[in-house]
Formats: sequence, structure tokens, C-alpha cells
Amino acid sequence: MEWTKEMRYRRLEEININEMDELKKKVENSEWRQSFHIQPETGLLNDPNGFCFFNGEYHLFYQWFPLGPVHGLKYWYHTKSSDLVTWENVGVGIKPEQYYDSHGAYSGSAIEHNDTLYLMYTGNTRDENWERHPYQVVALMNKQGRMTKPQQANITEIPSGYTDHFRDPKVWKSGDLFYAIIGAQRENLTGCAVLYKSDNLLDWTFLGEMKTGLQGFGYMWECPDYFEDHDHGVFIFSPQGIEKSGDEFQNIYQSGYLVGQKLDLETKEFAHGRFHELDRGFDFYAPQTTLAHDGRRILVGWMGLPEIEYPTDQDGWAHCLTLPRELTIKNEKLIQKPVVELQKLRKSKQVVEATLTNETRKFFNGVSFELICELKECDSTQFGIEIRASDDEHTSIMYDSIEKKIILDRSQSGQPVAKKYGEQRKCTITDDQIKFHLFVDVSSVEVFINDGEEVFTSRIFPKKESDEIRLFARGGSTTFYAEKWDI
Ligand code: FRU
Repeated sequence: MEWTKEMRYRRLEEININEMDELKKKVENSEWRQSFHIQPETGLLNDPNGFCFFNGEYHLFYQWFPLGPVHGLKYWYHTKSSDLVTWENVGVGIKPEQYYDSHGAYSGSAIEHNDTLYLMYTGNTRDENWERHPYQVVALMNKQGRMTKPQQANITEIPSGYTDHFRDPKVWKSGDLFYAIIGAQRENLTGCAVLYKSDNLLDWTFLGEMKTGLQGFGYMWECPDYFEDHDHGVFIFSPQGIEKSGDEFQNIYQSGYLVGQKLDLETKEFAHGRFHELDRGFDFYAPQTTLAHDGRRILVGWMGLPEIEYPTDQDGWAHCLTLPRELTIKNEKLIQKPVVELQKLRKSKQVVEATLTNETRKFFNGVSFELICELKECDSTQFGIEIRASDDEHTSIMYDSIEKKIILDRSQSGQPVAKKYGEQRKCTITDDQIKFHLFVDVSSVEVFINDGEEVFTSRIFPKKESDEIRLFARGGSTTFYAEKWDI
């Protein structure tokens, strides 16, 4: 189906119940609906927005186009949870309905102040010539969950030197002041992030550009996020326009971070180390972090990418969010672990210890499960796991001890996705001691390597019947110890 501009900018109110019911039915019948990930009831989900702990609950909104698997008029959809595991669908959080967000309530963040949640986001507009003009807007949500939007946008102009690609404010508090970091494009078409400050979250003063060591690093930085952890400053962003390099930057757009000293809010200088990709899989973009009620830093990402077609498109929906991950810093790198609360999902458990020599063997079945696989002894050149396996399909995650690399291969995963960006993702791990920790849902896999040193996140679209879980060793023997829980 061809999605015309008119179709992409239809409002939810213009849709009659029958049309929506039909779409819902189509989505419900999709064989790739997830069982424990946040996914849209219909249409397309993208960036996580407004992630916060407020009034005793976690709130997590996402970018939503309700009417089909394409990017159109974006709403904020609201979900909430008491434990980061079970999420309740609340409904539309922010509707694009004012002059300042007529073409979409784009991404943004949330912060609590005076018992109220302040949600700062980008109002996207287009004029009659389809020229874009972004506004930055602050909506308020009270403890009863009632949302109020302002009469006027809070930041109306783009500072000089930047193009209309200016969006995705992330807010934080430092001392008595609030700061916002916004993703931007300079007039010379390079990406950067700019800073604002405010004492009331409503009136904002432009401070200037954040000074990093990355001057010509892509053409646009989307979804910036800044936080501090002890003596470190961490800057997460999603740069567009980075060339592939070795095993890195293989996806259409990237998402990564810089760890450094704390951002100097006077000089705007951020002294940092090298850019690291946050995730080494095929489908990860535009993550956002928040603080948990107990002070942990938690990250959620979009398990998808812009401008890529996915097999669920034909079923009227696209994408989901990743599981929440706890972030810590070790040796100037982020360590990402699935939040401990996810253990609540564990149902029946199976355990196996086995030595495999030049063979692949099936041990379990499952399409929705958690698996932890450690190695007792190993002198094989390659070893790993096949999931969602059958005679003609499997997704494999393995370690190659000669290349010293983890390799995720989705060439046999079922329906193909974005083949032109390759079917393997690799990343070097120097430690020979390998631990795989997998969360597999109906159409996704998240693999945590060595307790969060690296993560590979990917959608996969196998047949329902492909449900075997196998272990393998090639070029020698490996003794595995594996624990698996149904979810
Ligand atoms: C990132 C992004 C943001 C924008 C939003 C629109 O995926 O392009 O920059 O605010 O999605 O849905």
C-alpha cells in the first residue's frame, strides 16, 4: 500500500471505529506479536519518551503513529509500571493538536518538579511549502495523570547557526537550575547538541553548543541524553551519517555514548573518551535513560531503526521497545545489565551441563524465554547457541576464539530484514571467559555478553514452529552450563 501524505497526517479522531477495529484485528493476528515487550496496539512505535519515576510509578511514553507501520503524525503513547516489568497501556499521553505541534509531538523527556511532571518535547510543524519548523514545548502532568499543554510554545526560535533539524530535549537538574540538551544540525550540515537553562522549566535561556571533541561526526545528532554518575559525565546520542568502520557502525544510523568528566556548565566543555556504540545488534536506536526510585540509572531503547522495512509492516504494526537495562561505568565504558526485576518473568526452569565436541545438539524448546549459558571448559574454535531453530531456520550467537569475536548471525533467522546492511554483527571480546545471557521473545533477541560488557539487540522473524534451542561446538570441545526459564 502506498502511504500518501494525506494518509500519514490523518488524525486519530478522523478514524471511525470500524476502521480501527479492522486494523486491531489485523495486528492481533500477526504471528510476531511480542509477549513481554512494550509494543504498539496498532501502527508504529519509535523512540521511548518521557521515561521517569513519578508518583510511585514508572512512566514510559513512546513515539506513536497509530494508523499503520509508517512514520506519520506522531502522538506520545503512555504506558506505566510499578516494577519495570509489567506495563499497563494508559492511552494517548500527548496529542499533536496545537499550532506548535501540528505535524507531530516529537521526542522529549520528563522531570518531576513541585509534585508535577514536566514533559519537554519537540513540536514538529510544516508550513504550506512543507518547510519544517520545530518548537520546544513543556506539557504538565499532575498526579491524577491529567495532561495540560501550554497555549504557547516554550522555545519558539532556532538559535542562529543551526538548521530546522533541532529537536528531542532531555532535561535534568543541577543545583537549583534545570538544563536541557537538544539535538541539532549546524548550518554546515554537521551534527551537534546545544544547551539551555531555566529556573522554572518554562522559560529557557540558550547557553550555546556543548563543546565535544567530535566536530564532524555525522550530519545530525538525535535524541541526546546527559547524566552524571559519581565523577563522570555520560553523553548518549544517536548520530546520523557515520560511515561503517571495521565491525562498527553497520546499521543505517548509530546510537552510542561518550564517557567523560562532568560537563562544565559554565564553559559548556565536555572532556571525554572515544565514542562507543551502545548496542552491537541490528535493531537499536534513540535510547533514553532515567533514574530508578533507588538511584539506578536505567536505559530503554527503540528496538528498530528509521527507514527500514520490517516483516510486521504487512500486519499493520511495527517495532517495540527494548527491555530496561541498568547502566554502570567500568573502565570508562558503560556496562549494561538487564534490570534485576526481570527475574519476575521467570517461570519453569531447566538446567543442563554438557560437553559437546564438533557437534550441534538440541537441549530445550521455546519461543519466549531467558537463557544463561556459561562455559566450564573450552578448547573449541567456535561455540555458541542456536535459538528459534528448526530444519531450515536458526539464529546463532557464538564466540570465535580465533577471531576473538562474538558473532550474531541472522542470515537463517526467517523473514529477512534490511539485508543490504548485512546479516552478521560482530564485536571483539578479549576475555576468553564467555557468558551469554539471552532474552528471547516471539520476534526479538537481546543478548548480554559477559554481564553487560556488550549487548546485541535484534528483531528476528522466524516461523512459530522454529522453537529449538541448541548448543554447538566446532573445532574441539566445549563444556556448557546452561539455565533456561520459560517466560
Ligand atoms: C528519532 C526521531 C527523533 C524525532 C522522532 C520523531 O527516531 O527522528 O529525532 O523526535 O524520531 O518520531
